Amino acid sequence: MKYIKILFFLIAIQISAQQGGMWIPSLLEGMNETEMQNLGSKMTAKDIWDVNSASLKDAIIHFNGGCTGEIISERGLILTNHHCGYGAIQSHSSVEHDYLKDGFWAMSEAEELPNPGMYVTFIKRIDDVSKEVFKGVTESMTAKEKQSKIDKNIVIVKKNAVKENWQEVKVRAFYKGNQYLLFVLENYTDIRMVGAPPTSIGKFGSDTDNWMWPRHTGDFSLFRIYADKDNRPAKYSKDNVPFKPKHFLPISLDGVAEEDFTLVFGFPGRTDEYLPAVAIEQTVKKINPAKINIRENYLKIVDEYMRADDKIKIQYASKYAGIANYWKKWIGENQGIEKSNAIANKQRLEVKFQNKVKNNSEYDHLLQDFDRLYKELDDVARARAYWTEVAYRNVELLRATVRLYQFEQKVTANPSSFESERDKLIKASKGNYKNYNAKVDRDVFEKLIEIYGTKIPATYLSDKLKNVNYTDLTNTIYTKSKLTNAEDFKSLLEGNQQEVLSKLNTDPAYVLGKNLSNDFFNKINPKFQAINLQIQDVQKVYMKALMETFPEERFFPDANSTLRVTYGKVKGYYPKDGVYYKPVSHLKGVMEKYKPGDYEFDVDQKLIDLYNAKDFGVYGENGKMPVNFLGTNHTTGGNSGSPAIDAHGNLIGLNFDRVWEGTMSDLNYDPEICRNIMVDARYILFIIDKYAGNKRLINEMKLVHPKK
Ligand code: ARG
Ligand code: GLU
Repeated sequence: MKYIKILFFLIAIQISAQQGGMWIPSLLEGMNETEMQNLGSKMTAKDIWDVNSASLKDAIIHFNGGCTGEIISERGLILTNHHCGYGAIQSHSSVEHDYLKDGFWAMSEAEELPNPGMYVTFIKRIDDVSKEVFKGVTESMTAKEKQSKIDKNIVIVKKNAVKENWQEVKVRAFYKGNQYLLFVLENYTDIRMVGAPPTSIGKFGSDTDNWMWPRHTGDFSLFRIYADKDNRPAKYSKDNVPFKPKHFLPISLDGVAEEDFTLVFGFPGRTDEYLPAVAIEQTVKKINPAKINIRENYLKIVDEYMRADDKIKIQYASKYAGIANYWKKWIGENQGIEKSNAIANKQRLEVKFQNKVKNNSEYDHLLQDFDRLYKELDDVARARAYWTEVAYRNVELLRATVRLYQFEQKVTANPSSFESERDKLIKASKGNYKNYNAKVDRDVFEKLIEIYGTKIPATYLSDKLKNVNYTDLTNTIYTKSKLTNAEDFKSLLEGNQQEVLSKLNTDPAYVLGKNLSNDFFNKINPKFQAINLQIQDVQKVYMKALMETFPEERFFPDANSTLRVTYGKVKGYYPKDGVYYKPVSHLKGVMEKYKPGDYEFDVDQKLIDLYNAKDFGVYGENGKMPVNFLGTNHTTGGNSGSPAIDAHGNLIGLNFDRVWEGTMSDLNYDPEICRNIMVDARYILFIIDKYAGNKRLINEMKLVHPKK
């Protein structure tokens, strides 16, 4: 009965016309459908999601588990971001064929390149399994007992699910564990690389422009799904044929104008929209600043080396981009939380909430519980952030010690796994050392270990870091350790288990790293997880309480890497007083940013020629070539590569980023300044057709004129 009540709320509350929200595509009928139509959509909920007939959903894929992609031809052609295909493009590249630098264009299907390990996932069906998952879960159970009962039920639910033998099932929690949905999926594993523009187009502006508007990036790449002769998933084979989708997205040549309806369909990874004020305060005041400070130091050191040395630049480009991406995001997030008064607004909401529940013994203590638990979490959460960033993310030598630590644990517990675990380590180390420079890492270590040693809460400070001189420590480690180069590392792992472990335990880097890992795996993380489990239990009840207490508000479930729909419109914004950002950028802006020879802002001669000749084909608009545009769609990491779809179901753009002022949308969506950034579909077509001259790809697409 209780869950039926909750379900009722989930459906009834989606009322207000304000935008934001990531909705479950199988539950759009009713409020979402009305809201979309009010924004200008001509589609019904069934046009978007229909289990029995072809609908938009049949053109959407989870791309390699992290990004989104969409099918844009009847031959299984996939469109996704350049930064989503980056790893694949890089893996096919060599000095002779540098596809990152020059781009890659298969001129026939025979030239399309296989990508071992790559996969894409279609969602075939979504079922509500809350009742089965909560069976036998009672209020008198502890948080841990409840979770273990739920986990057992999920195993049964998955086993009983109706599906074809080539399909898989997954169960995921929604609304902080108040609802459970089962997903039936199909994974295709023969995915071939079809096309990618050069980095100077696909990553134009690089980290300087990342998370920013105005933007001018052609962040797209093309792949193709291959299937067996029955159109089913199959391992790579020469005999496989292009996949025939149930539906693919036609592409609109009519472009976008401010206020046009936009729907983004994809796999957002993670949001936290229902945290209490204390949690946001902790993130913004304690956790983010710690992480930002560490990364800032990393970036400064590595940037200097990269600028001075081309080899280091190549070795560190991808690592640098990864560290810089979230460093910049957190800074924007902090500013946005402040600017949108998120904490004060949450506090006001909490006062209202507390007033309404003061006579409800199930709910009246929740905010107090949060206060107590987040206070308890404070030190350990900071310790965890320092450990993760220093020992795991930024200092490569220390990350290597974490792997070695896990290796020692495993082989000690299970000596028969020694050979295979050692092989795994050696194999993984090859790729790592290829892109490793001990001088760079040494400087990063020296700076970061001092931050770690002086900033981590005292209870969590490793014995090995008490009263040390950081420079001496650094010198000892980077002159004596065998972890600083591939050959020494290999020699360290030679011998039988006993020999290897005893060598390992005299290596100065390992000795320190082991100590840090012991701190983490035996002290920091268990404590963090124990408190976190209690927080999740409170958060689950709080979510339910919020929905019951404010039935007129709209609540969407936090992102959890499942398929979602978010709708909005093309719209500019005011980043600050007196400044308005228009929602569309043009190729002219690429030329304005052009810095010959610069690794972020160089422009290819061919593109310059096309620009000068205004040779935009049917893709330009009034003599201009649109490049990127903004929308009010509520997106997050994982929405990269998601299609932007018009009122009729045609592709108009490709999502790839958000604006800096709005990156706090993961914690607090504000329709005034939260914007997603998309590549205009016409720019993609222009690059494929006019720049790359790849007509065969254009010919297999369906180009339409919905506005005419
Ligand atoms: N900010 C975008 C996202 O979160 C794009 C990241 C890739 N680009 C980059 N310059 N690092 O993933
Ligand atoms: N670039 C992000 C991604 O890779 C999407 C942008 C965002 O976080 O909004 O998923």
